[in-house]
Amino acid sequence: MVNESKLEQSLPFQVRRLSRYFVAEVTGVDLSQPLSPSCAQALADTLAEHEVLVFPNQDLSREDLMRFGRYFGELTVHPFAENDEKVPELIVFDNQEGNPPVLTDRWHSDETYRECPPLGTMLYSKIVPEIGGDTCFSSMSAAYEALSERMQQFLSGLEAVHDFASFKYLFPDTEEGKRQLRGCEERFPPMSHPVVRVHPVTGKKALFVNPHYTRFIKGMEERESRELLDRLFRATSVLEYQYRHHWQPNTVVFWDNRSVQHAAVHDYYPQRRFMERVTVKGDRPFGAEPAAKAEELRKFKVAQYDHNDARRAIRQFERDQEPQIS
Ligand code: SIN
Repeated sequence: MVNESKLEQSLPFQVRRLSRYFVAEVTGVDLSQPLSPSCAQALADTLAEHEVLVFPNQDLSREDLMRFGRYFGELTVHPFAENDEKVPELIVFDNQEGNPPVLTDRWHSDETYRECPPLGTMLYSKIVPEIGGDTCFSSMSAAYEALSERMQQFLSGLEAVHDFASFKYLFPDTEEGKRQLRGCEERFPPMSHPVVRVHPVTGKKALFVNPHYTRFIKGMEERESRELLDRLFRATSVLEYQYRHHWQPNTVVFWDNRSVQHAAVHDYYPQRRFMERVTVKGDRPFGAEPAAKAEELRKFKVAQYDHNDARRAIRQFERDQEPQIS
């Protein structure tokens, strides 16, 4: 059995771990009521420690959800989501026949194409399907811890570039669509973040690349970057670092984007799933080491083939074409 930390024994709410490495259920706090500053601070610390918090049996209005979010920072407006018309900070996922869920079934940390990606996200379930519709989480701090020291050293100081290309399909191929896309490209230029970020509260390191938004690692050959990213993306698939949340109505799940990735399971469609979401602004991610200089990374580069270089290795298909000397 896992021992409760001293911190948890003195908290104004109850905390119960839900899996080995991360995730806790929080009870004894009513989120429809204002929270004291000390309670909000204790929740922020509990989030940093457990990475995902589950609050069951919460009967919340959208104002309650937004007030809860604001205890942890400014709420942000997702530039590409189904935001409520009157309150753009609120995303409404009302998926049902005719409105299938899109894109959220890829592992990601939210909006990492921003200079300051969100600290955390709160998702509140109002109508859940009878079967399916879970949300999966994977701890990127546990995944980092599991790497060998050599791999950790290799990743240290690397930076990756993130962008919002996966949303470009939303812009129609019209003059107006192109104009809007250009506007978004100006607002959200490709953004560099450390491959391993340090959590500002716990000091823990976590992998900070995801298949939704991360495009390449700076200073590497395209092929090297692709292989390394694919290897790091697979970190989400380690079962023991995963938690799969099966939703009941009236549950808030609050996840820490600085240390976990998530993916929604779209198996419920066309049943209805109605969720509300708010997102809390974060800080600029930082690593433990200064960013590696591109020139220094050159030493990891594989030499490009120069087809005119007589010393290069002959490929098999070229050998096959060479005249046979008998
Ligand atoms: C999201 O990525 O915010 C959506 C998660 C979900 O719908 O379960």
